[in-house]
Amino acid sequence: MTALTSMTSARPKVQLTGVKETLLATLYGRAVDSRSKKPILGDTMAVDTVRRLDYDFRKLGMGAGDSAGVALRARQLDVWTARFLARHEEAAVVHLGCGLDTRVHRLDPGPRVRWYDVDFPEVIDLRRQLYPERPGYTEVPTSVTDPAWVDQLPADRPTLIVAEGLLMYLTEEDVTALLRRLMAHAPSGELAFDAFSRFAVRAARLNKVIVKTGSTLRWGTDPAGISRLSPRLEIVENISVLDLPGIEKLPLAYRAAARVAARIPGGLRDMSRLYNCRF
Ligand SMILES: C[S@@+](CC[C@H](N)C(=O)[O-])C[C@H]1O[C@@H](n2cnc3c(N)ncnc32)[C@H](O)[C@@H]1O
Repeated sequence: MTALTSMTSARPKVQLTGVKETLLATLYGRAVDSRSKKPILGDTMAVDTVRRLDYDFRKLGMGAGDSAGVALRARQLDVWTARFLARHEEAAVVHLGCGLDTRVHRLDPGPRVRWYDVDFPEVIDLRRQLYPERPGYTEVPTSVTDPAWVDQLPADRPTLIVAEGLLMYLTEEDVTALLRRLMAHAPSGELAFDAFSRFAVRAARLNKVIVKTGSTLRWGTDPAGISRLSPRLEIVENISVLDLPGIEKLPLAYRAAARVAARIPGGLRDMSRLYNCRF
């Protein structure tokens, strides 16, 4: 996908490592999807961002199927976020581990929404060089596990917590403490996220992005494990990535592999699931 990269010299050099570097895989996945004949997400800003960064995206080894998988996951989380925004004109959205994702631009929430994009300071620095400011939009440069930043969130708005490709990198103790802290702060709301199974966490050495970035997977769960995070959480929907709407747009070879995987008992169907919960 070299056509996605540009040779201009003033591009920010990306020096992220470990878990921070994984955001380049999801960004690139969305860009490749956007350039495909039948885009699933159609994130044109991602194409522009890839062109503007000085980084060798080829090192991540993302294929067409991986990119379509990233786009399917992002689209489902967009659908749940858009549904929450349609129900709550004065919502707060807390987007944890936002990376260089452009969800706020894709969904373009109304003027009464307050949106918070949260990631490490190095990541937020890079975002600020790439994306415009918007009214009602705040970037929070912090580790999500630091308790202090939560105090700057409004405590009187229905709140959607979104975490895409994040929670599997935290320990179960950190996931539990983070979500309980956010739920104690907000009056009510929803949580939309993806999670790996314990088997997928153990099989991390088969995950290209984890291996290439040298990052570590820590938390895996199944639907029954969600209630252990907090008794306040009630699952509204949970979907295996192999059943996501739009999977028919994947390249033929990937669809065939997904069909076979979905039928293998004891694990593959549950390797990665998306959850929408209310609290
Ligand atoms: C796989 S990337 C996903 C990025 C983005 N959600 C997307 O879909 O493109 C994982 C992201 O989680 C962020 N992250 C991981 N651990 C974090 C932590 N403790 N605090 C804040 N951000 C974290 C990384 O910096 C990175 O941006």
